[in-house]
Amino acid sequence: METNENNDHDEATSAHAGETSPATGSTSGHDGARASSNSDEGELYGVLAEFDSPGALVKAARKVKDAGYGDFDCYSPFPVHGIDEAMGIKRTILPVLVFCGGITGTFLGFLLQWYCNASAWQWNVAGKPVWSIPANVPIGFETTILLSVFTTFFGMWILNKLPQVWHPFFRLDRFTKVTDDGFMLGIEAKDGRFDAVETKKLLESAGAIAVEECYLDASPANTKMPMFIYGVIICTTALALVPFALVYKARASHSKDPHYHIFGDMDFQAKVKSDQYNDLFADGRSNRGEISGTIPRGWLNDDTSYAQGLENGAWITSFPTSVEVSRDLLRRGKQRYEIYCSPCHGVDGRGAGMVAVRSQKIGQGILPRNLVDPGAGVITQPNGQLFNTISNGNNTMMGYGAQIPVADRWAIVAYVRALERSQFAAGTDLTDAERSAAMGATP
Ligand code: HEC
Repeated sequence: METNENNDHDEATSAHAGETSPATGSTSGHDGARASSNSDEGELYGVLAEFDSPGALVKAARKVKDAGYGDFDCYSPFPVHGIDEAMGIKRTILPVLVFCGGITGTFLGFLLQWYCNASAWQWNVAGKPVWSIPANVPIGFETTILLSVFTTFFGMWILNKLPQVWHPFFRLDRFTKVTDDGFMLGIEAKDGRFDAVETKKLLESAGAIAVEECYLDASPANTKMPMFIYGVIICTTALALVPFALVYKARASHSKDPHYHIFGDMDFQAKVKSDQYNDLFADGRSNRGEISGTIPRGWLNDDTSYAQGLENGAWITSFPTSVEVSRDLLRRGKQRYEIYCSPCHGVDGRGAGMVAVRSQKIGQGILPRNLVDPGAGVITQPNGQLFNTISNGNNTMMGYGAQIPVADRWAIVAYVRALERSQFAAGTDLTDAERSAAMGATP
């Protein structure tokens, strides 16, 4: 339909009955408009009014809303403040949907982890409970975000009825101004209150600088989606399945060809690995073995009694000569013991540390040895053996050599000895002076 872009204010707003303008279709009514319309004009879709400023648009929107219209919309080149309220648009329910989506995500995330870790395939990780909320928070958080985002994204599309590639107002040339300087208000004919004459009058009285009728295309064929779009959709869908088909084929078949290397420089680095062939050397080995007369840094274990608790292949019963057993050493040992050993063996060494108690409670029975009970045998073990247990572990107890330096291991040995001794101390073990000091200076 043709539109006269140069309609000025008076012309447009004075479009009364009889002043039929084929150019604008501004006639006295639906039937009249039809009679004078081009053959490609179908049903009346609605009327479009243009306003000269955002303020005028807001005022008009309020007026149209107050007149009881519901099926109308405003179009502007930029967001106009207050237009939602003027149009009577309620706050979107999207936040509620997103909240529900998020909660669903939390629930599904936790359910998945519960099913995998606590139900279908229980997995004992160092005696920890198979199900514990804190451990599952990160994944639960992620799934919450995931579903919230999906709900936001798709909810926004659905609530806005997107994607909408075409709108009947596109048939009016005037409507193109809406991306530049046009402030438009369109009322749809399907609105219960719509009346071609009255509605236009209303818009004119609301300050419209132009009012136009908009007709749908008469030919049904023109309102259909072009066939080529269906073709494009089918082709892209089919193409999108190709990678999946390739992956499936790769998984289900065997091939002698080498793998594809997407990151070649990561897969093939210019370095030798110990078991690789290497023609640089006569024996063809990359691994050159230990070079006689050398040791790795920090591996100087000449003093086996200090480094391993061994002397001539036997556990030492005393302390290495370089370790001076002093009050400071015991203090250090106590502190290290309480950090590294007490969680399992307990501060008193009786094997009732937090980890032990907890593991008993959840039925995962991890029983740390009682270090101070003569019946449990640690008391009679040589110092070297105790040192070795700390370094390398024993049965189900792992070694702490990697965490605790040698000197601290000896400090712990000394402290464990003191701990054992303390359980069987008699008053006579102290001198009179020590006893009175310990009792608070009273004899
Ligand atoms: C994670 C818990 C845990 C921690 C921490 C731990 N232990 Fe143990 N320890 C055990 C358990 C369990 C056993 C019993 C191992 C077995 O016989 O299966 C044990 C056994 C021992 C034994 C007896 C070894 C033997 O020959 O029978 C000694 C000694 C010992 N621990 C010392 C220590 C010292 C010292 C520390 C601190 C550096 C320490 N443990 C830290 C769990 C622990």
